[in-house]
Amino acid sequence: MKIRHVQVAAGSRGEVVYVLAVDGTAADAGPQLQAALAAAKATGDLKPTFRSVAVFHQGPKAACQRLAVAGLGKAEALDAEKLRRIAAVVQAHAAELGVTTFSLLVPSAILAKVGAHAAGAAIAEGLHLGAYRYEPPRQQAAKPAKAQQAQVAAVGFASKDEQAFAAGLEFGGIGAVATVFARDLENMAANLCTPSTLAKAAKKLAGGRLRVKVLDTAQCEKLGMGSFLGVARGSTEPPKFLVLEYRVPGAKQNVCVVGKGLTFDTGGISIKPAAKMDEMRYDMCGAGAVLGLFHALQHGGLGERKPKSNIIGLIAATENCVGPDAQKPGDVVTAMDGHTIEVLNTDAEGRLVLADAICYGKKFYRPAQIVDLATLTGAVVVALGHEVAGIMGNDQKLCDALIAAGKQADEPLWQLPLWDCHKEQMKSKFADLANINGGQHGNGSIAGGAFLSYFAGDTPWVHLDIAGTAYGGLAKDYYKSGAAGTAVRTLLHWVRSL
Ligand code: BES
Ligand code: MN
Ligand code: ZN
Repeated sequence: MKIRHVQVAAGSRGEVVYVLAVDGTAADAGPQLQAALAAAKATGDLKPTFRSVAVFHQGPKAACQRLAVAGLGKAEALDAEKLRRIAAVVQAHAAELGVTTFSLLVPSAILAKVGAHAAGAAIAEGLHLGAYRYEPPRQQAAKPAKAQQAQVAAVGFASKDEQAFAAGLEFGGIGAVATVFARDLENMAANLCTPSTLAKAAKKLAGGRLRVKVLDTAQCEKLGMGSFLGVARGSTEPPKFLVLEYRVPGAKQNVCVVGKGLTFDTGGISIKPAAKMDEMRYDMCGAGAVLGLFHALQHGGLGERKPKSNIIGLIAATENCVGPDAQKPGDVVTAMDGHTIEVLNTDAEGRLVLADAICYGKKFYRPAQIVDLATLTGAVVVALGHEVAGIMGNDQKLCDALIAAGKQADEPLWQLPLWDCHKEQMKSKFADLANINGGQHGNGSIAGGAFLSYFAGDTPWVHLDIAGTAYGGLAKDYYKSGAAGTAVRTLLHWVRSL
């Protein structure tokens, strides 16, 4: 999908011209289109409902041969999410028709409601994300989808809004392409996407302001990452610890974005049930979000913005398997900061790898803020489902900043409490901490956060539990199934606000 912003005059080119209609009309569509729309409305062929698309053939002499109207529904219910969805509907419609070049006219009523920049971003996101397909390896490789070109024009906009709209299109495109990059890694089978695959993907991103370092087992051992390496012991697949440093000119401090990179989670000796275990390929979606963020940064995601912080990505990548050396329930490991941990359940491994990643970040970067993202608990799916991710932490301002970024991206976050009583539950008789709380307590997702809070200490930190939103959500035009590439766009909004 190639998206080009065009002026109104050039807008009605391409094989099909799609007009977005609000309240069943597109007041700024220009006299030619307006007449066709009025006629279609009179016959009742023009449906005002959200997601309806109607095509009107204009005859061989017309400037555009096919005029299509895509309904956004009622003006009062219009928002960026609807725009994102309608753009994906238009993309799918054009693909179904087999046209490669189409125009998309965006009338001014949309700007008034959504804002020019946000409208442009949502449209680019819908077009790119809607076009995404995971191409699995097959004996007969699938024919690549025809490359589409969308010419997007704002109609009836003031010129300064038109600029903001164009900037939004570009920004949305960067975030969406980065999300697609994350989805591709996330959807790959676990034998095709290993810790080494993630390391290669990260290294391929390096260059310019981005430095990428990959630590192997021996280096992690030297650093004392006993908690991370304890998880890795059960697998013959070598673990990798990824460090991505994005230097912002003039920045005097650092923020760390930490991702859980379990390329497969069998549960270890505390093994998971067989049903749906294949879904544990998605246990690296925290890492996917972090890599997606750096993809966006490397492709101009900051635009003109100059955050006050360098952005440091940390990914602890490993499998959690059941090899002869696998750690056993009750084993005690020592994290990089000296905390000893009783591994009461080897399936609570995400927090074990994140603990050392947080320690590493604190030791080498003294970050002003830490954000971690992890498919950490099944309990968060029970609490919040697949449409909302959980967030908790030790700093309300940081929490609010992420929640605001999630709102902008339409990737909602819901805060869970993390109090001293929850931290208390994580103490162990056989070590400083246990990696699970007792089943009698409940609060499984909070327990994960409470465990991590010991490693964050006084550093402002939040934890996003994305086990629900990483995959399995409601199909919604710009997301169909499989990996969602969740939180890439949220993180991009957040780092732009720093
Ligand atoms: N990767 C899982 C969490 C998960 C579950 C992600 C479902 C996506 C969908 C995590 O490592 C895990 O196994 N957590 C345990 C924690 C428990 C042992 C305290 C869980 O949720 O059961
Ligand atoms: Mn697990
Ligand atoms: Zn896991």
